[in-house]
Amino acid sequence: MASSAAAQLQSSLSFQLSELRVLKLGSASQSKAGGRSSCARGRPRNPSTAGKYLPPQATETSSRLASSTVELPPQEIPGSYGPPFIGLAVDKLNYFVVQGRDEFFLSLMQRYKSTVIRVNMPPGPPLFPDSRTIMLLDQKSIRVLFDTSKVEKKDVFAGTYMPSTDFTGGFRVLPYLDPSEPKHAPLKDFCFKILQSNGRKFLPEFHTAFDEGASEWDAQLDAKGEAEFTSVCQNFTLSFLCRAILDADPSAPGSASLRDEGPSLIQAWIAAQLAPQASLGLPKPVEALLHTIPLPFSLVSNQYNKVYQFFYTNGHHLLDIAEQEFGLDRAEACHNLLFFVCFNTWGGLQLFLPAIFQRIASAGVSFQKELAQEVRSAVGEGDEVTMKALQSMKLVHSTVYEVLRMDPPVPFQYGRAKDDMIVESHDAAYKVRKGELLGCYQKIAMRDPKVFEAPQTFKPKRFMGAEGERLLQNVTWSNGPETEEPTLSNKQCAGKDFVNLMARLLIAEIYLRYDFFKLGKVEQHGARSSFGFKVLKRRRDV
Ligand code: HEM
Repeated sequence: MASSAAAQLQSSLSFQLSELRVLKLGSASQSKAGGRSSCARGRPRNPSTAGKYLPPQATETSSRLASSTVELPPQEIPGSYGPPFIGLAVDKLNYFVVQGRDEFFLSLMQRYKSTVIRVNMPPGPPLFPDSRTIMLLDQKSIRVLFDTSKVEKKDVFAGTYMPSTDFTGGFRVLPYLDPSEPKHAPLKDFCFKILQSNGRKFLPEFHTAFDEGASEWDAQLDAKGEAEFTSVCQNFTLSFLCRAILDADPSAPGSASLRDEGPSLIQAWIAAQLAPQASLGLPKPVEALLHTIPLPFSLVSNQYNKVYQFFYTNGHHLLDIAEQEFGLDRAEACHNLLFFVCFNTWGGLQLFLPAIFQRIASAGVSFQKELAQEVRSAVGEGDEVTMKALQSMKLVHSTVYEVLRMDPPVPFQYGRAKDDMIVESHDAAYKVRKGELLGCYQKIAMRDPKVFEAPQTFKPKRFMGAEGERLLQNVTWSNGPETEEPTLSNKQCAGKDFVNLMARLLIAEIYLRYDFFKLGKVEQHGARSSFGFKVLKRRRDV
């Protein structure tokens, strides 16, 4: 590898994303112990401990959140997998139909008086791998999943199963690789490079694309009295990503053009991969079937091939870098590039951006006025969002963290125990055996009452000030604390800071254009929600 894009990414102050890292509310070097009951200070990863078994009180991850230094006698983990097939069927029924995801875990926590529980996670046998999982549901125990010396992260990105590699051109793409695998580092470095080399285009391209989307919303509202959110959001985010990363408009004419089908092509490809475990909001019998059998790639091969052609044709400059700088195979690099942009980023934003609008709307018009005031005074006369302006928007930033805390877009992460070990929750220590699958449900873990006050309440100012900064290490949506950074040797989301930047930029763009907005009825379709704008009040002085 000629140069490490990761190192460049982290050191280059001229690059916008790196500036963001340095100037955000909390940084790894400044991280303090978070949580109301925490006392230990965060400290950088110690390379000398990598790969070695350490007693729980001595590890970086467990010590940071230690609520007490008393050693607890290890116990067996409560919960039961039930008889083969029947236990799984009962758990799936409760999870998907009777209780729903949140209630399913909450009732088990209550029944077993534990935040570490044995449970079957869908989809499971006979057509999918073993469903037996140890679920971690508090801020202390989930730390083990971020420690790649303790868990293997091979093939667990989508859940307890991995979709066929047919969906990704026959390659195991980066999110499915463990850092111990030789391809992990060059592919992650390539991902950092993609973000780094396009950093300067993010602000202006986002502005242009948001402007197009908002104009569409305004036109719909004028014509029909309500503007539909989802398809406009899908379109403007895809236009933004393709223009900023590939320098190509997905709908512009050309042999590889996606025309206006881009979002639906990508959506079909993502849905086929996630159908076995994600609730898609389809009729219950259809859902039941989808959670039992793997969907073949042939169902979406036409869609995927069109998107691949678009990326292969327009991404040649990035693919040259992949080959020359990182020694990657061109086709493998292209399938990864497509996955980063379409699955990781575009797919993630379709879950995250609606949550931002919904949470802000729920906080009322007076809160929106506070946001508008902060955005406008930071941006000043020019009306152009700059990195400097974004950095000074403390309320905007805290709001973004609070949305990520309440509604983590990717709710589950998994890892397999590399050895026998002890996992500590706040009030117990549990024995985990080598090879067992560990999972976390971020939505409950980030509402840990031992760490967050009023954890179920959306408090957009929660992360402001010194206390808020301390709490940031408990914002773990990216498969790691917000105070730490993705590296070539960990499995933290490579786009963590980019996601943060986009969210802040979105809020800034909203309040440069509008005074406030109001939503119509929000309908939930599995993990996705749909809604429209009832009001988009144009800024008076525009
Ligand atoms: C809202 C948007 C996003 C969300 C919610 C999200 C979430 C996540 C999560 C939770 C993981 C860890 C998965 C696991 O360990 O099982 C992850 C990994 C990853 N994400 Fe993101 N992500 C987003 C955007 C991005 C962006 C913008 C990029 C880069 C362009 C990106 C690239 C990756 C990669 C490459 C990995 C695997 C990292 C590794 O193998 O070390 N993600 N993402």
